[in-house]
Amino acid sequence: MPVSNSRLKGFYKLTVEERRQLIAEICNLGPEQTAALAKSGDLNDDAADRMIENVIGTMSLPVGVATNFIIDQKHYVIPFCLEESSVVAAASNMAKRCHVHGGFTSTNDGPMMIAQIQILGIENHEEAKQDILNNKSTLMDLANSLPSTMIRLGGGCKDLTTRSIETLSGQMFIVHIHVDCRDAMGANAVNTMAELLAPELEKITSGRALLRILSNLATERLARVKAKFTPEEISNTGGTEDGSKIIDGIIEAYHFAVADPYRAATHNKGVMNGISAVAVACGQDWRAIEAGCHAYVAFSQGKYGSMTHWEVDADGNLVGSIETPMAVGIVGGASKVHPVARTNLEILGVDSAQELASVMAAAGLAQNLGALRALATSGIQKGHMRLHARNMAVSAGAEGKEIEDVAKLLIEYEGPITQTKVSEILVAYRS
Ligand code: MEV
Repeated sequence: MPVSNSRLKGFYKLTVEERRQLIAEICNLGPEQTAALAKSGDLNDDAADRMIENVIGTMSLPVGVATNFIIDQKHYVIPFCLEESSVVAAASNMAKRCHVHGGFTSTNDGPMMIAQIQILGIENHEEAKQDILNNKSTLMDLANSLPSTMIRLGGGCKDLTTRSIETLSGQMFIVHIHVDCRDAMGANAVNTMAELLAPELEKITSGRALLRILSNLATERLARVKAKFTPEEISNTGGTEDGSKIIDGIIEAYHFAVADPYRAATHNKGVMNGISAVAVACGQDWRAIEAGCHAYVAFSQGKYGSMTHWEVDADGNLVGSIETPMAVGIVGGASKVHPVARTNLEILGVDSAQELASVMAAAGLAQNLGALRALATSGIQKGHMRLHARNMAVSAGAEGKEIEDVAKLLIEYEGPITQTKVSEILVAYRS
């Protein structure tokens, strides 16, 4: 179960330990889970050694929780794992600004993955297609003969389709298998199915199967999230006029991303600040998700553009939406093995992979709005500096009490702040 209220007033003012205890309390974490969060080296050598090869150690990143999220009428505190300041604060802040209309709503696809089998050396593609379609149910039965929990729970291969594509090596025949992965991300099962079917497909088509691998362009596993922000919520003062002006700027910023791939790449990086941070926190394959999200933009729009969509409705509200592939799982993989990933899923309280997909898409949408709103008003450096100032002070050599004092001077400083400037401010402070 997610939390009963994600509005944690003054949460940021607590100490790390106090925040951890509060989250443990409202998310019903057990002592072991709370302890896993508290350990900075959360993966022991044995667990790490089972995850990848040639392990020499682990490294940690901060986990923070974004507050204020209401998605499909449920309150969530969302764990983010990343190194960048301002991201968690911006997501929490934006999530608070769509409460008047009930927060975020989602409509997701089922958890369908596609695996591809590349078949070469086929002369007559139409004939190969017919032969495969004639054997479809036998092939699907073979795929579903795998001993797998996912299949026992009603998932498994649900369809088989074919495509002919032009390539630099001539025409290629591609078979897609469509697999319901239930609550798993499904990479292993789907790849195993592709490898299992390949020899049969070779027999049926007299072709040669080469690649047998899932596609990260998970077009049948889309997460869709939407939210409405009133002008009053968007403004800092609560004023309609002020808010409408900011909304105009946000729309102009969005149109820039739609028109220009140089801007779209950065705009979408902001979206992924949310999506990837939750993916890492919850032990997901964030590279797969990133690949899918970016590829889907080009696939669905015919060019690289914005992952999100923003418009103003007839009442002057800002309406944002995102539709993006979200291949995530809550069973298996690192989400089960990594103690903190498990705890983070517990904090989220999601019951299904699709619910996790909604949370991640909402985090991406909120994050995008945070960046657009900041960029279209005061610029991002001001907000960024509030948190980054301490890091810059430490990098310049500040120690102990100096860190807070120099950070304060940096926040108050009017001009551009570079690391050289920070060193100068530290020298001036010391003298
Ligand atoms: C920085 O991590 C993300 C932004 O660059 C996103 C954007 O420009 O929209 C602020």
